[in-house]
Amino acid sequence: MRVAMLTGGGDCPGLNAVIRAIVRKGERIYGDAMVGVRDGWRGALESDLMDLSVESFRGTLPRGGTILGSSRTNPYTVDGGPQAVKATMAESGIDALIAIGGEDTLGVAARLAEEGLPIVGVPKTIDNDLSATDVTFGFDTAVQVCVDAIDRLHTTAESHDRVMVVEVMGRHAGHIATWSAIAGGATIVLVPERPFDLDEVCGTIRKRHERGRFASIVVVAEGARATEGSLALASGEVDAFGHARLGGIGDQLAMAIEERTGYETRAIVLGHVQRGGTPTAFDRVLATRFGIGAIDAVHAGAYGMMVALRGNAIVRVPLTEATAELKLVDPAVYEVAEVFFG
Ligand code: F6P
Repeated sequence: MRVAMLTGGGDCPGLNAVIRAIVRKGERIYGDAMVGVRDGWRGALESDLMDLSVESFRGTLPRGGTILGSSRTNPYTVDGGPQAVKATMAESGIDALIAIGGEDTLGVAARLAEEGLPIVGVPKTIDNDLSATDVTFGFDTAVQVCVDAIDRLHTTAESHDRVMVVEVMGRHAGHIATWSAIAGGATIVLVPERPFDLDEVCGTIRKRHERGRFASIVVVAEGARATEGSLALASGEVDAFGHARLGGIGDQLAMAIEERTGYETRAIVLGHVQRGGTPTAFDRVLATRFGIGAIDAVHAGAYGMMVALRGNAIVRVPLTEATAELKLVDPAVYEVAEVFFG
């Protein structure tokens, strides 16, 4: 078979491990010819393709990013987009396409699969907010980056008796924030699932200071919101899928905490550091298992399906299910973090 693959949306540590696994098993076990599509759906629209072989992957397992490039192009917002994708596949003799992405990329994959294209999906996002899989690769790496930063911030916060507000990624769900807060020993964590009351946040920090602990770490997800009105500074710009560019809640919160409590407060935005660099061993293994699962799905003719982790097994679930519902933070996990508030 001639099997193509693309990576779409925000990049994520482990993407190269998925591609490497698909190519390895495709070429060596199934005897396939492997094709890379450059920059997500953009390459599929414009027929921007590259031949891939096992040889192309020397040294890529520990590398972050994606050797295929990525974009947030949405074929359904481009005139004649879906037809152009179909033409690329037909003209290049592609028998199957593996789409590696998050809710947006897989949403497009689901629609194209419903229109009859032979597509298999692989879930990807550091946010870990896809409901159809227990975990996505990239999440473990992102959490580790946050925890390393929080460990360092504790010592400087203590030297200067400061409050440190650490803004982490998490547009709709606070998985990264909650896990980082538990592992990093944060004073409080604010997530999109639970609008926060600024007075309560300041009250928690004040009580801690009254007990003689003059340094605090506040972890806030970029998508968190205050009950009394949004504190986030959205830039107003939206991408091809209509998402606002987030960022700014950390600075606003730091200013508000300093104003209300009088404690010196600094904001640290971890941003794309969470997405870059080498994947953890856990993410490399999960990504590799997903890649093997995807090429096996292609050869089983399981089109319109996505690979997923359920318990410890790699399973296939319909692509439509993957994008139907967001996975939010389990209240029981948030309650674990809450025990350590203050
Ligand atoms: O979905 C992954 C993610 O990292 C989100 O947490 C974040 O809101 C978004 O991507 C940022 O994307 P961009 O690459 O457009 O800055």
